[in-house]
Amino acid sequence: KIEPSYTEQQGNGGETHQKAGEKVATLTSAQGIPIADNQNTLRYGARGPALLEDFHFREKIFHFDHERIPERVVHARGYGAHGYFELTESLQDITRAAIFQNVGERTPAFVRFSTVAGSKGSFDVARDVRGFAVKLYTKEGNWDLVGNNIPVFFIQDAIKFPDMVHAVKPAPDRDFPQAQSAHDNFWDFISLTPESFHMIMWVMSDRGIPRSFRFMEGFGVHTFRFLDNNDRSTFVKFHWKPKQGLQSVVWNEAVKINGADPDFHRRDLWNAITSGDFPEWELGVQLFDEDFAEKFDFDVLDPTKLIPEELVPIRKVGRLVLDRVVDNFFAETEQVAFCTQNVPPGIDFSNDPLLQGRNFSYLDTQIKRLGSPNFTHIPINAPKCPMAHFQQDGHMAMRNPVGRANYEPNSWGAAGGPRENPEQGFRSFASDETGPKRRLRPESFADHYSQPRQFYISQTPIEQKHIADAITFELSKVERPDIRSRVVSHLLHIDENLATTVADGLGLPLPQPALATQPTRTDLLPS
Ligand code: HEM
Repeated sequence: KIEPSYTEQQGNGGETHQKAGEKVATLTSAQGIPIADNQNTLRYGARGPALLEDFHFREKIFHFDHERIPERVVHARGYGAHGYFELTESLQDITRAAIFQNVGERTPAFVRFSTVAGSKGSFDVARDVRGFAVKLYTKEGNWDLVGNNIPVFFIQDAIKFPDMVHAVKPAPDRDFPQAQSAHDNFWDFISLTPESFHMIMWVMSDRGIPRSFRFMEGFGVHTFRFLDNNDRSTFVKFHWKPKQGLQSVVWNEAVKINGADPDFHRRDLWNAITSGDFPEWELGVQLFDEDFAEKFDFDVLDPTKLIPEELVPIRKVGRLVLDRVVDNFFAETEQVAFCTQNVPPGIDFSNDPLLQGRNFSYLDTQIKRLGSPNFTHIPINAPKCPMAHFQQDGHMAMRNPVGRANYEPNSWGAAGGPRENPEQGFRSFASDETGPKRRLRPESFADHYSQPRQFYISQTPIEQKHIADAITFELSKVERPDIRSRVVSHLLHIDENLATTVADGLGLPLPQPALATQPTRTDLLPS
């Protein structure tokens, strides 16, 4: 078998490639110049100085010097795989999205799992949230469902995200600890952000240390909208349910695994897929309308709340199968760019303030991370459906408009390029919005403790013990006693036994319960 040439490997369809012999392709420069000697720089004499003329050395070393790109500001450590989504139940009466019309239809998919807080070189089995980002290359453009393995989030408003991430990452002066949550800054922030306690309960539970990516659930977290052909809206929450089941490790196992094999999760996914044991998830949707949403005693726009499955059962409508590892980690897993704003016609946003902020943030960071607004030209990010637009130029432009017209409207007739399409194009839901411009958080976002309490109560005794152990362990790494106390003051609102167990474990006197709405200004805190 003749190995594919470099050009073929790049998928550029190159036809002319040099061959060193029957089986081996000739090494070339990036310009395609065949290379005769890749071991020695061009020198004056056998032992003389290197020559400026050595374009092969220069090109090779300059390229190497530029190999690194910034790691993701969060979710830096991740692992991806290819697969497909197959529809098992049509939702054509609820959404006009092409992917949800025809039962049996398969849509190519790329998934990247990740930890949130650790750097690109950190270990896999950290106690952390896991990213579960899915890119679906639909017939009407890319749909990115950029979710996590936990159904709720730490904060209610995107303006708090930079502070939250600064607090969880290593402290700016000492650049440690690298471990995810075990430090003063993180718990200081959490103790001043009562809305975070629902997510904290999930992260401190066994869900925070999954057995592998294959045994995790995924959640779109936010409430989204489906829109049908008449633009009728239905609220939707997305869930991925692993066919493999849900499994975690215990903390002592996690500590050992991380020491023995920091690549435990990526190795597991690679080995499963390459041995033909393809992991699979069912896509579930929770569907409800605005009237139904009004009846909940929480706000469906609040991303720190989930919608209990007893109230709105999950409807399984499809399956996601991962059946192919990447050819190249950097080209695919590292360069893939997921963004919540990528939704096809028939799917739309809700007013969740976290979702609205995310829609802004991802594109901005990706233009910096990938270095050019043309990152959609990279194969992993390019749609797999026909596209035509008038965006042009910029660094690394590979798909500039063809022909005379690069603007719209134009009067060049058939030669004038693509036109807008009111029937088939993306239409936003025409919601009625009124009210004063303000920064105040709605009263409907105020209950921070009921759902964490429900979560804690729903756990088995051994799972509850794991939660208490995890919080006690984490807080034992916090040096300031006032921060430890403040965390326990919130736990008192969730479960008194839990609070007492943690306080006892830390040798702390039981504090007063936290104020119902915790002021974030420390000068307003009770002493
Ligand atoms: C990256 C999920 C909230 C900003 C990611 C990734 C996931 C994710 C899965 C990794 C994507 C990948 O694998 O490439 C979530 C979820 C959130 C959330 C589920 C809440 C429900 C936010 C918020 C912001 C934000 C509120 C900012 C306002 C970012 C940024 C990246 C990122 C900047 C890096 C993207 C890149 O460099 O490609 N997020 N995130 N996220 N997220 Fe979020």
